[in-house]
Amino acid sequence: MLDIYTLGDDVLREECKDITEFDPALRMLADAMLDTLDEADGVGLAGPQVGVSQKIFVVHISGSAPMYFINPSIIETSIEECPYEEGCLSVPGVYHDVIRPASVTVQAQDLDGKPFTLKAEGLLARVIQHENDHLHGVLYIDHLSESDRKAVIRSYERKNKARLKAKKRV
Ligand code: NI
Repeated sequence: MLDIYTLGDDVLREECKDITEFDPALRMLADAMLDTLDEADGVGLAGPQVGVSQKIFVVHISGSAPMYFINPSIIETSIEECPYEEGCLSVPGVYHDVIRPASVTVQAQDLDGKPFTLKAEGLLARVIQHENDHLHGVLYIDHLSESDRKAVIRSYERKNKARLKAKKRV
């Protein structure tokens, strides 16, 4: 299990670096990220969320095999947009509707460095966009209006009072 970094941690706001080594260490990181994601009962987890400022994210939607995206870029988005209630393991306990394109085409590499292109819709398209944002220092709350974002952050701080207090002490 890896530690999950949360709102306020600088690593969540950094632009991630490209991955150039497709070696056993990358596979170990990917495995550890999948274990962490499953344990936290999430659907997606990106490098910065475990303190690794590199372009990697894992998606695990129940009923489907885990998918790894290395050095991804979204090359096409649909004109059609839709709302979906998002949450984030780095902003635990709060959720809010976010409007995003309904489908996307993403180019990435797998754990062996092999390039692939994937067209996704529905939940998968949603998770890919959310996780891809993490690689550029963007959180889903950044997509909200200022008043909605403030409300979500207030609610987050209220729900995580004890944990945030402990965090300040270390
Ligand atoms: Ni997230």
